[in-house]
Amino acid sequence: MTSILFVCLGNICRSPLAEGVFRTVLSERGIADIEMDSAGTGGWHAGELPDPRSIAIGAKHSVNITDQRARKVMAEDFARFDLILGMDRSNVRDLLALAPKNTGGRVQLYLDYTTGRQKDVPDPYYGGGDGFADVYRMIRDASEKLADKLTTGRISAASGQASSTM
Ligand code: 4NP
Repeated sequence: MTSILFVCLGNICRSPLAEGVFRTVLSERGIADIEMDSAGTGGWHAGELPDPRSIAIGAKHSVNITDQRARKVMAEDFARFDLILGMDRSNVRDLLALAPKNTGGRVQLYLDYTTGRQKDVPDPYYGGGDGFADVYRMIRDASEKLADKLTTGRISAASGQASSTM
């Protein structure tokens, strides 16, 4: 496992936080060589900074996401990324509809893959600030568990066992 794409609808609220928090968790653990990005299934906000409420909740927890700019998912992403994590089930459905032949297996529901819970990270765009705090908490927990999975995969690969669980 070397590359992960985080995907939501607009790529301004949830997936930029998922990318930024995961970068922070990996850096806290001294893991450096993972490629990651985030994207949206919709392109309305392409080129924009993350939503100010996502920037604020990130900053509150020392996660800087201001170097990110929104972009739309591209066909090339399905070849470039080993794992494509949709924040909610509608993102997963949209991703599967976009996925070129034989690449749909890379698409997973973010919380299911990371925590084993068949749950969505709810879209906070039209809600208040609490929605962003809830999203942050879910993403922080999921990021720790994703890093655990990565570490476990590495250890078994390093010890010559069969391929990782990712
Ligand atoms: P996100 O939130 O998918 O978490 O980035 C949204 C951002 C923008 C819109 C919808 C959801 N929008 O409709 O513009």
